[in-house]
Amino acid sequence: MALLLLAVVAVLQPLSADEGMWLPALISQRITDMQAKGFKLTADDIYSVNQASLKDAVVLFGGGCTGEIVSDEGLLLTNHHCGYGYIQRHSSVEHDYLKDGFWAMNRDEELPNPGLSVRFLERMEDVTDAVLKGYVKSMTELQRDSVIRVNSAGLISKAVEGGKGLRATVEALYYGNQYFLFVYKIYRDVRLVGAPPSSIGKFGGDTDNWMWPRHTGDFSIFRVYAGKDNEPADYSEDNVPFRPKRSFKISRAGVKTGDFTFVYGCPGSTKEYVTSDEVRYVSEISDPQKIDLRTKRLDIQKKYMSRDQAVRIQYSSKNASVSNAWKKWQGEVKGIKKMHTVAAKEDFEARFKQWAKGGEYDGLVEKLGGLYERRDPFYHAYEYYSETIRAVELLQLASSVERSLIEKRPVKGLAESFFKDYYQPIDEETFLAMFDAFDKNMDQGFKPAYFRDELARHGSVQAWKDYLFANSIFTDKDKVASLTPEDLDKVAADPACELSDAFTAWYAELISPVITEVNSEIRLAYRDYMRAQMAFEPEKAFYPDANLTLRVAYGQVAGYCPADGMEYAPVSTLKGIIEKDNPDIFDYDIPQTLRDLYAQGGYEDQPVCFLATNHTSGGNSGSPVINADGNLIGINFDRVWEGTMSDIVYDPEVCRNISLDIRYLLFVVDKIGHASYLFDEMNFAD
Ligand code: ARG
Ligand code: GLU
Repeated sequence: MALLLLAVVAVLQPLSADEGMWLPALISQRITDMQAKGFKLTADDIYSVNQASLKDAVVLFGGGCTGEIVSDEGLLLTNHHCGYGYIQRHSSVEHDYLKDGFWAMNRDEELPNPGLSVRFLERMEDVTDAVLKGYVKSMTELQRDSVIRVNSAGLISKAVEGGKGLRATVEALYYGNQYFLFVYKIYRDVRLVGAPPSSIGKFGGDTDNWMWPRHTGDFSIFRVYAGKDNEPADYSEDNVPFRPKRSFKISRAGVKTGDFTFVYGCPGSTKEYVTSDEVRYVSEISDPQKIDLRTKRLDIQKKYMSRDQAVRIQYSSKNASVSNAWKKWQGEVKGIKKMHTVAAKEDFEARFKQWAKGGEYDGLVEKLGGLYERRDPFYHAYEYYSETIRAVELLQLASSVERSLIEKRPVKGLAESFFKDYYQPIDEETFLAMFDAFDKNMDQGFKPAYFRDELARHGSVQAWKDYLFANSIFTDKDKVASLTPEDLDKVAADPACELSDAFTAWYAELISPVITEVNSEIRLAYRDYMRAQMAFEPEKAFYPDANLTLRVAYGQVAGYCPADGMEYAPVSTLKGIIEKDNPDIFDYDIPQTLRDLYAQGGYEDQPVCFLATNHTSGGNSGSPVINADGNLIGINFDRVWEGTMSDIVYDPEVCRNISLDIRYLLFVVDKIGHASYLFDEMNFAD
């Protein structure tokens, strides 16, 4: 009986565990499991260097998002929040594309975006032996680094020889136990084709961010252009739409619970293999203190934003970025607590230590513990400084102006863009709250002498703040705008500059050197610990931590139970948008056209978003979500709050990625954008 039970568990386990971000070139190791879960294609369909494969339709979009090609003429889809900056740059009071949306009605109306590029993966290959050639175990970490640097440079220059727009990188995987060469082709003429109004593309705003049920139409549309030879080229009117090796077919068949899904994209950073000490630091010290500090800042911002429409506009983007991580960290802490990850890791480490006794990995966990003990107070000081002192906008302005003057760059533009979105009462109150927190919560020995002296001299944070804002020239736009390099001495003596310089020096001299040194020892220890974990659990499949390289995550459409007595369905519809619609609440104020359309009837069941179990992270925004036949069914854009600890520990019960249903994109393009001419170039699977 016991044996039988074991057999059943062994069969079931891989079916429920959808954890993992796998390397496309090694996907043949997972393909049997993928096919068992419903995938109908082969490993070569996902990644091949000999024939066109799905990887040829996936790009890194800009610096940190993913995009996918959906036509033979270079049409590209990504998220609205990934295109946001570009849409904003084309916007003015006369043409507010963020507010009203943008739709090119023909190729001539597509808008170029200087600085934006997309990167296609040509190939990736294991180059561990070549990278470590000449390395011997007796070398120091610094010597090893230099061997790696020299060998990598050779591999890279060989890889890009003779190709237009090629760029190569060598990336360490598994903490440097393995090295891969990635060769990319970079296209740098990428034009904006379409974007919904923010009331659709950012519907739900920060209120719904990281949450389910979700109704955000988070997409934007671009087109990749190339020279007449189809190779990368600088922007030119003569460029032509890029002809990809492969593009996605779009499936309109829809999704239901249990359907196979696969996300192909570029997750940015995870740490799945760290020790209990690191998890304890993140979940008990780092996250909670950052959350607390940001709560204070957000409360201050909110107070002034709700009083004044102009301030709300000024601070909406700042508020969104402060709140995005703030909300994620809360989910992460909750998730780590709920999973008892610290205790689970401690338990693992106890067994590991037993196993490692007397061997080459003996003492490794203890060693890491010692390193963290050395690093943590300094790291804590660094994080606290970043979240408090550096949160004061006036001090940021002072230091960027000073840097510009030293480098003899003009400051007029800097001053203008700063003051356009600056509201001094918010900054003054932030100063008070943040300096107060720094004073109360930072160990006396970690405070810069300047901080202690100034505080004593003024008698209180309040008096110091009053003095600084009354006497600094950085509160005065015209004065700042007219500064020239001759004013450098005067600027350096300004109280805001003095303060920010004192902290910069303190950080550079006392904090950062320790962190850098200990971190390099930590990296070295993890290289051993990673290898040791693999030796300790030879049955387990280990995926490398995310590093913005292309990965495959597969799973299935699934709802989840967020709390006792609650069950979430995996799909949302237009009905839910209408239920949330409220002209008085900025995040929920939908375009009148959408209200009118809905009132006509027949659109209640229009799908909007769906949930799946794919293991994703920041950077997976805009990733194609693909069905069992390899066709596009959605665009990934978020995770659920209860599952954001998946960067550290994945819980199959609640870790869900949130995707836009591709049918909502088609609906918005057609009914809101009246740009259904774009469908002519798309390939539909059904
Ligand atoms: N949470 C998503 C991500 O991490 C979306 C962020 C953009 N949306 C927002 N409301 N701030 O990046
Ligand atoms: N919104 C995130 C991004 O911009 C993706 C969500 C996540 O972290 O999973 O990359």
